[in-house]
Amino acid sequence: MNGKRIPPYLLVIVGGTGDLARRKLIPAICRLREKHLSEFYLIASGSGKKHNDQTYRDFIARSLEDEGVDLREIGDNLDWMYYQSVGGGSIEEYKVLADRVIQLEKEHNLPGNRVFYLAVPPSVFPNAIKNLGESGLNKSNGEIKLVVEKPFGQDLKSAQELNGLVHGYFDERQIYRIDHYLGKETVQNLLAFRFSNAMFESLWNRDRIERVEITVAETVGVEHRAGYYDKVGALRDMIQNHLTQLLTLVSMEVPTALEADDVRHEKVKVIRAISPISSEDVVFGQYTSGAVQGKEAAAYVEEEGVGKDSRTETFVALKLNISNWRWQGVPFILRTGKRMFKGITEVAITFRRPPVSIFRQFSINDIQPNKLVMTLQPNEGFDLFFKVKEPGDSYRLSTQKLHFQYSEIFGRIPDAYETLLLDVLRGDQTLFVRADEVESSWELYTPLLSHEFEVHKYASGTWGPTVAESLLDGDKWFTV
Ligand code: BG6
Repeated sequence: MNGKRIPPYLLVIVGGTGDLARRKLIPAICRLREKHLSEFYLIASGSGKKHNDQTYRDFIARSLEDEGVDLREIGDNLDWMYYQSVGGGSIEEYKVLADRVIQLEKEHNLPGNRVFYLAVPPSVFPNAIKNLGESGLNKSNGEIKLVVEKPFGQDLKSAQELNGLVHGYFDERQIYRIDHYLGKETVQNLLAFRFSNAMFESLWNRDRIERVEITVAETVGVEHRAGYYDKVGALRDMIQNHLTQLLTLVSMEVPTALEADDVRHEKVKVIRAISPISSEDVVFGQYTSGAVQGKEAAAYVEEEGVGKDSRTETFVALKLNISNWRWQGVPFILRTGKRMFKGITEVAITFRRPPVSIFRQFSINDIQPNKLVMTLQPNEGFDLFFKVKEPGDSYRLSTQKLHFQYSEIFGRIPDAYETLLLDVLRGDQTLFVRADEVESSWELYTPLLSHEFEVHKYASGTWGPTVAESLLDGDKWFTV
């Protein structure tokens, strides 16, 4: 997030032929190379033996085209990319990788700055971390960094074990736990919005705010990820990380400065202030067949790789309470689902109504409260809803909004992975999840994992099971 010059680096992507590397990381690196990187090399390491350096470059060139990166336009022939198999992931194979790293560092006269990016399924993390350490790759004369994708653990115990393992080979200052939501510009803007506009910050509390809704609705289904998703479900896939991160940014106290530890201290504090979540305040759902934006969609249990009797939740809504001076008594309602009516990520703040109505025609309940809705994607921007008098001799109120949209003012918004990779290279951990933070979040949700929730069916293309509305105490969800 700062403008420091980036020294030469070698990036090793473990899982270099996977979807994440192909679709997100490498396109992001190509864009960064153009603007920010000069001396930069990449070794993709995969489990297959089928690639050599040239076939890997060809494979990537084809997928970059699919992602809209025109190599000719940016004058790139990908000769900074190499391929090295780690086969079955044995220590011997990692030692071969280590030799290749050292050889390339010599060849290009690099100072030993290395980033290891684990773009592999979580089941591979422990072996990869151990072998990076045991092969000596975690030691050099330069800066060493390790990037670990989500999910970091699958409950409190496994997250603690993974932290224990990783701390055996890497210092916390070297570890970048990714939650790609934190790299989204509009998510970072939550901090700018709150802490550079005193007007809003002075209203940001239990005296002025009635309710906070955080929604991440997706139109996609499980796609080709059933192998991972069916074991995980929406609570672990989305709530424990992305939605909880949004919640922390909306609710944390003002950090002393926009520095990694100042921000992360405040995030941990607010997660710790959340009261245990009652199972009565949680609704699980699973999509059935239907139509999403005019396109037919199959039921979750009919998706490739999903068992007919799967009870995995593809929708979760839950209500929680932050027990501190700022928020006590204000419900925070998190909602996420796949195959929903539309794809939208938003934070909707409902302010309190005026204490009494002075308008004879309207009772206080007729006066809709002010709302502030921050749309994080797509159509990034915000809307502030307020009441005005409609012109005329009778007294009629109507709801209007102040509207701001990023695309009308700013140009292209960088992809989250561009921001995050740049921060890794610059050594800025502000947008990465600290060990105690990931554990606090698991501590909150782990008790729910063993609860047998009823899984309510909802048709694809809807807003999820209607029973979830019970969390709103008679009110309606906000959706722009
Ligand atoms: C990932 C989840 O972390 O985030 C996916 O594993 C989900 O299930 C994705 O689809 C959503 O990310 P985005 O950036 O498309 O909102």
